[in-house]
Amino acid sequence: MKIHPMWRNYPLVEPELEQVLTLIDKNITTNNAPVRDAILKMINAGGKLLRPAYCLLFSQFKPVDRHKMIALAAAVETLHTATLIHDDIIDEADVRRGQPSIQATFGQDTAVYAGDYLFTVCFKLLAGYASDLRSVQQDGKHMEAILNGELDQMATRYNLDITIDQYLTQISGKTGQLFALSSFLGAYESGNSLHFARNAQTIGLNIGIAFQLLDDILDYTATSAQFGKPVQEDMRQGVYSAPLILALHDDSDDFIPYLSKRSQMTPDDAQAVDQLVRQHGGIDQAQTLARNYTDTALAAIHKLPDVPVRATLEELTSTLLNRQS
Ligand code: IPE
Ligand code: IPE
Ligand code: MG
Ligand code: MG
Repeated sequence: MKIHPMWRNYPLVEPELEQVLTLIDKNITTNNAPVRDAILKMINAGGKLLRPAYCLLFSQFKPVDRHKMIALAAAVETLHTATLIHDDIIDEADVRRGQPSIQATFGQDTAVYAGDYLFTVCFKLLAGYASDLRSVQQDGKHMEAILNGELDQMATRYNLDITIDQYLTQISGKTGQLFALSSFLGAYESGNSLHFARNAQTIGLNIGIAFQLLDDILDYTATSAQFGKPVQEDMRQGVYSAPLILALHDDSDDFIPYLSKRSQMTPDDAQAVDQLVRQHGGIDQAQTLARNYTDTALAAIHKLPDVPVRATLEELTSTLLNRQS
């Protein structure tokens, strides 16, 4: 299995991530050819595998059956992939991981079923390998929180008065919760105390919030080719993220002529908003916010027991703050 080249620098986790992908592939057994082909194409398109990586890293504080942890890491990646497939339908996105999205290639019906199918794979892996019912309960809670983040985001579309706190609540749901779950499962299922696992969960949450902030910054600073997915679509669809919200807070009048066009915004309008966001310091402020969440995570990681994986967790978490794709 070919995994994202970034993992070459992380020998503690690279071979296991390869096994995660192999295991997911093996579990895609549906007879429905379009669903199977769509999923396999997406799984092998070079996703970053961050959630399984955090699950595996947090499981390295104690000796544990590695096959079990690889299966649980595979469960969180299948859950993640399912949310992306469904997200691309909602967001009408044609590109994902640098290739045509499932909904663009195979249609929305196949995309709905492909996402649903991956939820079943996730549950099978979780039920097959989790040693404790608490992990399954935890999974249910996080899935609900992810959905609530998405629903909340939908409910505030085109709202020019959205506050940064509302936005942070939304991203802590839609993205933070899956990083939190991955970290919890890694820590808890490898035999650490519930206290340790809750700490890992909070660290994961902060990492996930920083990750989404960075993603929303890259929506302004990266090109679609570099990013592997559409850019500048959020504002047209009324999903206002940190750079825009913070800039609107500085002075919203400049933005009204463009944003009031809603879905009728042209690429030139988007370009104008992009410029205004920069002028009003939206990018810089969002970067500061991402740094704060990363620093909170790093400070907590630094207090963990001094075993080799701690330095890897620190390095990966700081590197994510500087990612360009
Ligand atoms: C995309 O996540 C969705 C967000 C939370 C921003 P990733 O950027 O981790 O997606 P892949 O798995 O690497 O494609
Ligand atoms: C990511 O959604 C979060 C979930 C899929 C739950 P976004 O819409 O913000 O992410 P991208 O930009 O499509 O990856
Ligand atoms: Mg979305
Ligand atoms: Mg999207």
